[in-house]
Amino acid sequence: MSLLRNLLLAGVAAASLSGMAYAANDMSPEAIAERTKPVGSVYTAADLEGIVETAAASSEPAGPRSGEAVYTAACAACHGTGAAGAPIKGDADAWAPRVAQGRDTLLTHVMEGFNVVMPARGACGNCSDEELELALDYMLEAL
Ligand code: HEC
Repeated sequence: MSLLRNLLLAGVAAASLSGMAYAANDMSPEAIAERTKPVGSVYTAADLEGIVETAAASSEPAGPRSGEAVYTAACAACHGTGAAGAPIKGDADAWAPRVAQGRDTLLTHVMEGFNVVMPARGACGNCSDEELELALDYMLEAL
């Protein structure tokens, strides 16, 4: 096999790999540019910046999670089971004296923790203030 033939075959392979429709013997400037572009130049720095920005944007939550979702993820382990003496969601008797303090006090206790056993923010590291409030309301609505 001649060197020239090998080069031509490599050209065809490269052209078909990159999905371009140029024939290996196409001498148009576009075809030559396509055949001779350095490997790995598919993404420019500007492209990568765009990709990174898009990825960052798409990992941003679209909005607050629902109270139910936050409760399930961050509160149910204790408030679904009574672990550590937590008042169980839906247990009106257990909640009555707590509700009597008023929602503002309950919200403060969610944010700051209460009586050592109720951890601040339900120990939820990625819950926003708004999400914690929604989770509180979700529990209060169940009463
Ligand atoms: C590690 C277990 C645990 C987790 C997780 C937890 N709690 Fe609690 N929570 C408790 C316990 C225990 C109490 C009762 C504390 C007491 O009265 O001594 C409590 C009490 C409360 C109270 C009543 C406070 C008061 O003033 O009587 C609220 C409201 C509350 N939790 C909300 C939440 C919310 C909302 C979440 C999730 C974001 C959450 N908790 C996650 C254990 C937990």
